[in-house]
Order: sequence, then C-alpha cells, then structure tokens
Amino acid sequence: MVILSPSILAADFTILGEQMKKAESGGNDYFHFDVMDGMFVPNISFGIPVLTSVRLATKKVLDVHLMVADPERYTDKFIDAGADILTVHQEACKPLKETLKSIHAGGIKAGVAIKPDTDIDVLTPYFGIADMFLVMTVEPGFGGQKYMEKCTAKIRSLRARLDEEGLDTDIQVDGGITRENVRVVLDAGANVIVMGSSVFKGDITDNTKYFSRLFAEYDHKLS
Ligand code: DX5
Ligand code: ZN
Repeated sequence: MVILSPSILAADFTILGEQMKKAESGGNDYFHFDVMDGMFVPNISFGIPVLTSVRLATKKVLDVHLMVADPERYTDKFIDAGADILTVHQEACKPLKETLKSIHAGGIKAGVAIKPDTDIDVLTPYFGIADMFLVMTVEPGFGGQKYMEKCTAKIRSLRARLDEEGLDTDIQVDGGITRENVRVVLDAGANVIVMGSSVFKGDITDNTKYFSRLFAEYDHKLS
C-alpha cells in the first residue's frame, strides 16, 4: 500500500490543528513529525510537548522521525507522548538493535533512517527487524530542499534486496518530493511518501487529494 505522510514541519504552527484537519479532509494516511536536536542536524524543531498536543488533534498514524543524537535516550518518552512509528538514524544510534527492540517492546513500529551519503549496506543487519527503512532524499535538517537524484538508485536497490529476501518492509522517502518527481520514487519502490512543502504550501486539501488519488492508482496497479 502506498502511504501519504505529510510532514507538519512545513505547516503554519499558529493554526497547526486547522491545517492538519485540511490534510485529513484530502485523505492522508500518516502525519510525519520531524524532531531535530541541533546536534545531529543543524536545526532545532519541536519535541515531546508538541507531540503530546498533536496526538490529541488526530487519530492518524504519527510517524515520528528522530533526527537526534543518541535517540535511545528518548524513545520511551516519544512512545508515551503518542508516537505510532519511531524512526531513528543509523548514523546517530550506536545500540541500534537494542533500540529497535525497546521501541517494539513499547508496542509500536520501529524504523531505521539513513542520510543520502550512507550506503544501504548498513541496513542489512536490520532486515526482518525494522518495520520501515527511511531513505532520506535530502540532507536532514530542513524542509523545502531539492530532491537528490542520486537517491533514486538507493531506493531501487533497497527494494530489490528486500524482495530477494521475501520482505515487504516499508520504504519511506523524505525530502524534496513533489508532484513532478513523486512517480520516480514510487517506480523505484518507495511506498511511504513524506511531503512537507508539497502538501502544506498552497491548497492543503487539494494537494493531499492529488497525492492520495495518485497513490490509490498505484495501489490498484500493484494489486
Ligand atoms: C528534513 C525532514 C523532512 C522535511 C520534508 O530533515 O526530515 O521530513 O520536513 O519537507 P519537504 O517535503 O518540504 O522537503
Ligand atoms: Zn522527516
């Protein structure tokens, strides 16, 4: 199934609840929640208090992306705050296997993210353990960046390797996805599509409707 996960980082925080409702009326599946700590990435976004409020504002899956150094320090707190999926960066988490285990012990899904310059080989030890792999298609830290073309091949080879292993693990892409390039990542094998600017800039409901209709077409093609 192809999943639409709008990144609220691109929303207007003065009317965040309203904008999330507009996305929901267009038909999103998840909301993507970008946590940035100013250490692992050169930016600071939001954290646990905001997630606690967002949790009250929606029933949609909260797909939390931790761009945080040593994320294992906070996984329990994000689970308590209402995360449904918690994704940590392979580059930031030394006890990665244990961290995935503890996220699963918290009753939610666990994802592993890699930056554009990190090879997909580092993901192999987590095949069959992680519920989702996040292939960053921009350098993490900011919304509104341009899609990095070199990442398309990474998505394609990751999907091929998972297929070889008989795994249908979700592949999430995140950063610079637009109406113009979304088919490229879908055709490469991504099935969880994060979009910030392409959803929250302009007509939110129309943008979400456009993508959810396109994804339904892909689901039909894949079935
Ligand atoms: C970047 C974040 C992305 C970003 C996506 O570090 O992980 O989720 O918010 O925003 P767009 O779609 O505008 O690139
Ligand atoms: Zn993200």
